[in-house]
Formats: sequence, structure tokens, C-alpha cells
Amino acid sequence: MTELNRKLYDEWSATYDEIENPTRDLEAKACRELLGAIGLGRVLELGCGTGKNTAWLAENADRVTAVDLSPEMQAAARSRVTAGNVDFKIADLAGDWGLGEERFETVTASLVLEHIEDLNKIFENAAASLTAGGRFYICELHPFKQYAGSKARFETESGTKVLDCFVHNVSDYLDAARNNGFELERLDEWFDGGDRNSVPRLISFLFRLQ
Ligand SMILES: C[S@@+](CC[C@H](N)C(=O)[O-])C[C@H]1O[C@@H](n2cnc3c(N)ncnc32)[C@H](O)[C@@H]1O
Repeated sequence: MTELNRKLYDEWSATYDEIENPTRDLEAKACRELLGAIGLGRVLELGCGTGKNTAWLAENADRVTAVDLSPEMQAAARSRVTAGNVDFKIADLAGDWGLGEERFETVTASLVLEHIEDLNKIFENAAASLTAGGRFYICELHPFKQYAGSKARFETESGTKVLDCFVHNVSDYLDAARNNGFELERLDEWFDGGDRNSVPRLISFLFRLQ
């Protein structure tokens, strides 16, 4: 399953930044608004993709370690991000993150957790990677959208390609967070055009490790 997503993201990397993608763009806004308001310290970015957030994080943090499954997505990030305080690593977040004893003040996950089945393991690894009081920012496709069948997908000449995804309910995030020593600081919902009468596109959480 992870192997299929790696192949598909390698393929998507050629167009990911160019094609219209309101989910990608709204998440960029959420990330900057929420993380712009706190001190970031050393950041571990989970699923950095083509570096949409990596360059901004590098400007606002002491250091960034940017992890992704797809070598091609990360290659795009490497060419985009010229800052000297960024380390790139390839890893499958569903397995060992390979970070050893490294510790961070902030962990971020933008539009990546829908591809990971076991949320509890992600929170366990995030807790182990953070210093006491560290923050875990998550912004994902809202479960309301997932219930309606929305998944990460992209168009190619040979048709629509759909990534393997898992539904995560709001209570799944909150339970996994609580089980691993996090408290919720903020929960926000993000709407197209700011229209709060529409179905929210994204949900974000800011957790703090107790
Ligand atoms: C929709 S993109 C989001 C990229 C970036 N965070 C953004 O907001 O534009 C999802 C990224 O997660 C990565 N990804 C998917 N499954 C992964 C896994 N199991 N381990 C690590 N990265 C993964 C993909 O390769 C892809 O770059």
C-alpha cells in the first residue's frame, strides 16, 4: 500500500505545484496562520512533499528536518529550498522514522496522515521526537470530506490516479493524542472562501506535549 503511494507521489511530483489544488493552498494558509503565532525552534516536518511549507518553516525556525516517502516529491523540495538549515530524509512514516536521538520543539504534518492507517503510532513517534512542552501541528482533509468520498487524487493523460487513504475521525485524533500525553491547544476548521456555512475542507489541530 505504501509502495503504491510512493509510486503515485513520484508521478504526481511533476505537476503537484502547478495544477489547481484548493486543499494544498488552503493548508498553506492554515500552516502560516497557526505556526506564525508560535516559536518553532527545531522543526520535524512529516511528509514535506515538494516543499510547499518547508521554505517558510526554514525562514521561521532554527532548523528543519523534512521527511518524505517519495524521492521525487522530495527532489522538488530540494530544488525549491535553498536555505542551509534544512535536512532532508527519506522515510516511511508508518515505520521507523530513523531519527535516532534527535529531538525537536515542533512536529508538523500537513496533508499526510490520511495515508497512514495507525494514527496512534504516529502520535507515539511524535511524542518520542519532541522535547517537553513541544507542539504537534496537524492539518488534514476534514473527515466530513472523507465521509463524502474525497481522497488525494490527480489527473494524468491516462486518467485519474487516486491515492490509498484512511478515514480518521476527529475522535481518532483526540484519542491518539491523549493516549500519548498531548493536550489540545487549538482545533480549527478551514472553509473554502471562508464560508462557514459550507462543508469545511480542512481540520487542524495544535497539540502540546505535557
Ligand atoms: C498531499 S502531499 C502533501 C505534501 C506537503 N506536506 C503539502 O502540504 O503540500 C502528501 C505527502 O506525503 C508523503 N507521504 C505519503 N505517505 C507517506 C508515508 N507513509 N511516509 C512518508 N511520507 C508519506 C507523500 O510522498 C507526499 O509528499
